[in-house]
Amino acid sequence: MDGRRIEVLKSLEGFVGDRIPELTLKEDEYWQPSDYLPDMSQPDAREQIEQLQEQARGLSDDLMVVLIGDMITEEALPSYSMWITQLHGFDKNGEPNNSWGDWLRKWTAEENRHGDLLNKYLYLTGRVNMRAVEITIQNLLADGGDVGTGIDPYKSFTYTSFQEIATRISHSNVAIQARKAGDLSLTKMCGKIASDENRHAKAYKLFFSKCLELDPDGALLAFYDMMRQKITMPAMYMREKGKELGETFKHFAVVAERSEIYTPKDYADILDHLLKDWDIEHLKGLGNKAEAAQEYLCKLPERYRKVAERFAGRGRLPVEEYTFSWLEMAAAEPEPVAG
Ligand SMILES: [Fe+2]
Ligand SMILES: [Fe+2]
Repeated sequence: MDGRRIEVLKSLEGFVGDRIPELTLKEDEYWQPSDYLPDMSQPDAREQIEQLQEQARGLSDDLMVVLIGDMITEEALPSYSMWITQLHGFDKNGEPNNSWGDWLRKWTAEENRHGDLLNKYLYLTGRVNMRAVEITIQNLLADGGDVGTGIDPYKSFTYTSFQEIATRISHSNVAIQARKAGDLSLTKMCGKIASDENRHAKAYKLFFSKCLELDPDGALLAFYDMMRQKITMPAMYMREKGKELGETFKHFAVVAERSEIYTPKDYADILDHLLKDWDIEHLKGLGNKAEAAQEYLCKLPERYRKVAERFAGRGRLPVEEYTFSWLEMAAAEPEPVAG
């Protein structure tokens, strides 16, 4: 691996340390899953659960599937933390004892609440086959994933910048649709999670912008490589019990698209946003290869938009229905026959 990357990350340790306070929540600003869930220690806990279930009844099956898939993605957090620990410039005997490690731990601690909150909420709705969902989580953690960054920090920061925005969009759209369906508790939960994702996107965009400043050719070519291979979702290998690697993910992505929670148009919009945020168009003094990459990248959102428009709502999505085991309820135990 290019020693330049290690040098760049090392030189940014002070900068990152200075910015962490504004990029993470302080202890008295922490929100916790229990702020949004029924308080089981209260005498009216049963009524609180009934109220939650009443609101959740109005959510469509598609919305439930997207929410469950989002929750499973969040629950595979240990994989993502492990991956970031291994990045060049982060790895100091496996436990980075520098600003990068500080960021990684604080980011992990914030992310950990997302899966926790959605998992508990979904359990309480009574609409989910939790065992089937839990198997999918275990499979995803066991199978891992390959997001194509290797241990390259530049590639990883473009990936995480993209992903944090993608998850912000997904959680925000779930919040909007939950509001329309009358579930105000879920609206608040997803809105809160989306605000974390937004702040995390800000952090990764900032880290990458510093890499661009210090090593423009190297960083730009890394961004180019990531966009050439396309940004895949971290839960790309998602599978239910008995399914092939990634099979469930494909169906989940179809539902996310047809319910307009995350679509190809969002992909183009995110790329466009990143190009503007990093002012890629106006980077000067690049080498030949990086200049060609700059030109390619600047035209890419338009190309994706055209493809998205061409396929919008027709032909792309399979017509046949897929049944997710997540929503298949186990048959209730039969009542014992009297006498
Ligand atoms: Fe998250
Ligand atoms: Fe995130």
